[in-house]
Amino acid sequence: MRRRRAAPTRPRTVTLRAPAKLNLCLEVLGRRPDGYHALAMVMQCVSLADTVRIRRDGRPGGVRFGLRGSGAGGVPRGAANLCVRAAALFREETGLDEGIRIDLVKRIPAGAGLGGGSSDAAAVLAGLEMLFERRLPRRRQMALAARLGSDVPFFLAGTAALCRGRGERVFPFAVRKTFHYVLVLPPVSLATSRVYAAHRNLFTGVRENRLRPPGPWSTLIRESLRRGDARRLGRLLRNDLETAAFRLEPRLSRLRRGMAALPFLGVSMTGSGSAFFGVTGSAREAERLAARLRAGPAARGARVLAVRSLPSGETALSRR
Ligand code: C5P
Repeated sequence: MRRRRAAPTRPRTVTLRAPAKLNLCLEVLGRRPDGYHALAMVMQCVSLADTVRIRRDGRPGGVRFGLRGSGAGGVPRGAANLCVRAAALFREETGLDEGIRIDLVKRIPAGAGLGGGSSDAAAVLAGLEMLFERRLPRRRQMALAARLGSDVPFFLAGTAALCRGRGERVFPFAVRKTFHYVLVLPPVSLATSRVYAAHRNLFTGVRENRLRPPGPWSTLIRESLRRGDARRLGRLLRNDLETAAFRLEPRLSRLRRGMAALPFLGVSMTGSGSAFFGVTGSAREAERLAARLRAGPAARGARVLAVRSLPSGETALSRR
């Protein structure tokens, strides 16, 4: 008699990498009736990442949450954390009542425009699906993600994408080459809503409900990424929120000028700030320019990191 093989035991924990993103393009097309801004963006994931570990309790219970790491400052530790909100939403949608514990190691600073909280939330949604084998239909998963934040769907979709709507309509594309950036993290946190409000005050001529069509930047940037052309990418970078961020934090304008004086292929702010990045042609060049920034006055008080883009073969949220 053949012995029946025991059913495979489901894993009790899953550990995911939740990467930061850079905005290679952020074009504001106007303000929508719902108060959000219509955008045309290109985003790409980079090697700076948080780690999200989820463990099942094996019995009914709630969501417990632990937070540590160099980027934990200013990040909510309780129910307001996007990880906890993502888990609560997933449980509500699926009727899951087993207790879970989420441990977040935070390296991506909050209020930097790097999408760290959104990436963590996406990791929790993806991780819970893996742990409990409850695959939500793609559309439903993306809709849940968008309820958590405009950037959350991007992190479920891939490592590089064109994003429209308020950021939640995502069109991923493949990038063959690795791009090398220098990331500057100033000791300043900017709330996204404040930066958009400052942008509105600066550009009061922009009529509500009158959205302009996007310019050529996002599609040209997508082509530069696809072709692996860092030089062209550097020339095309665009972020419409920079002026608003400078209004709120004038020292960011000095940082940008200091970076632009170095031989980067291009310099830009990411998202609503406060982080800036420079495009370089190689890992060695990124290390060299990072060292120059650390030694000079332009990035004083800031953390300076050489990072690389994540390959498109992997999803942004790969298992560690
Ligand atoms: O969607 P998310 O929660 O990340 O947005 C945070 C805030 O940023 C919003 O409340 C809004 O003030 C602003 N925002 C916006 N237009 C967008 C995205 C965000 O005005 N497309």
